[in-house]
Amino acid sequence: MRCLLVAVATALGLTPCAARALSQPPARLSQTGLYASQGQVDPGHLAFAPQYPLWTDGAAKSRWIHLPAGEAIQGRDEDSWALPVGTKVWKEFRFQGRKVETRLLWKTGPQAWVFASYLWNEAQTDATLVPETGLADLEVAPGLRHSIPSRTDCRSCHGQASVELLGFNALQLSTDRDPGALHAEPLGPGMVTLKELVARGLLRGARPDLLSRPPRILADGPATRTALGYLAANCASCHRGDRPLPGLDLDFRHTSRVTAAADEPGLRTTLRRPSTYLIPGEPASLRLDPADPGRSTLLHRMASRRPASQMPPLGSSLADQEALAHLRRWVANLAPSH
Ligand code: HEC
Ligand code: HEC
Repeated sequence: MRCLLVAVATALGLTPCAARALSQPPARLSQTGLYASQGQVDPGHLAFAPQYPLWTDGAAKSRWIHLPAGEAIQGRDEDSWALPVGTKVWKEFRFQGRKVETRLLWKTGPQAWVFASYLWNEAQTDATLVPETGLADLEVAPGLRHSIPSRTDCRSCHGQASVELLGFNALQLSTDRDPGALHAEPLGPGMVTLKELVARGLLRGARPDLLSRPPRILADGPATRTALGYLAANCASCHRGDRPLPGLDLDFRHTSRVTAAADEPGLRTTLRRPSTYLIPGEPASLRLDPADPGRSTLLHRMASRRPASQMPPLGSSLADQEALAHLRRWVANLAPSH
């Protein structure tokens, strides 16, 4: 079909080519702008590592963001930064040293984002666009299976109408990094945090004391801080106060409005709170039960990989044993005063 000019197409009620082309991700990763030359990430992109990473079956990850030249992030709303149109973010997944998948989020309009995932070839020279429906159950190393989520699944975590970055935000890039964070990825050379974003004029409108009072999970001890940080990254994409799942009142999202440790939603909506989900064979359960941690539905669902009960329901085929061990210890040791 021939291309129509935007004005003509709009008058005819058709989709103009420009809009259609923009809503389609390129066929190959090498065409997305990630690399300056074969295998060399463009040095103009900013590498970053969120302090609380998402668990993906133990995959190693690298992430980069591209902000269009001369543009900056609008950070007035600390809990939901506005990114300039043209922003692109990539996340590379490696299993046993081999690149398997690279995901792309690309802001193409004030409310429009392109989601894509690319599967790496055997020779590790380039990666090709994965169909919208994703790819299930790839064997990425002997005995290790990995599924690439569908684009609908991407949006269950990153948002529908309003899309959000989950690892590139004020808490994740805070200069006050949690030394106990699970699966912590050390900051490599050149990786940006709030400090560099402010210094380079890439974050505008943020409160003046952002660097002297950087965002952090409020907690009365390091184990609680680490537990709530983990749950914020791994669970708050679906369980959040501003977009609640009907009838659940379950919220793991840290926001800048929290001013006291007891008010962190991850604690307030879970500890000794009754669960609508029941552990098979149990008449009633609490989400987090310090008196009997094994009967906490939150831990039960995190440990499960049965499709009907596993949490998160998407994105991993193995339960995160390190996180479960930390959370079980933490719940068992919570003081009765909590
Ligand atoms: C289970 C929830 C979940 C699903 C499903 C998911 N993501 Fe994410 N994604 C996250 C979280 C949480 C982070 C931040 C933590 C991290 O990077 O480890 C993230 C980070 C990213 C990043 C880096 C930018 C950012 O937001 O920090 C990209 C790019 C990305 N995801 C793309 C995708 C694409 C494309 C898909 C679908 C193929 C997808 N994601 C599916 C939860 C999810
Ligand atoms: C991709 C979206 C998504 C993510 C991410 C997610 N959940 Fe859920 N969760 C749901 C949905 C949908 C329900 C309601 C349906 C159900 O119970 O299966 C739910 C229900 C629950 C319930 C039952 C609450 C009750 O009182 O009945 C618990 C507990 C829970 N999730 C814990 C978690 C934890 C812990 C994480 C992170 C480790 C997590 N979820 C991540 C979508 C998600």
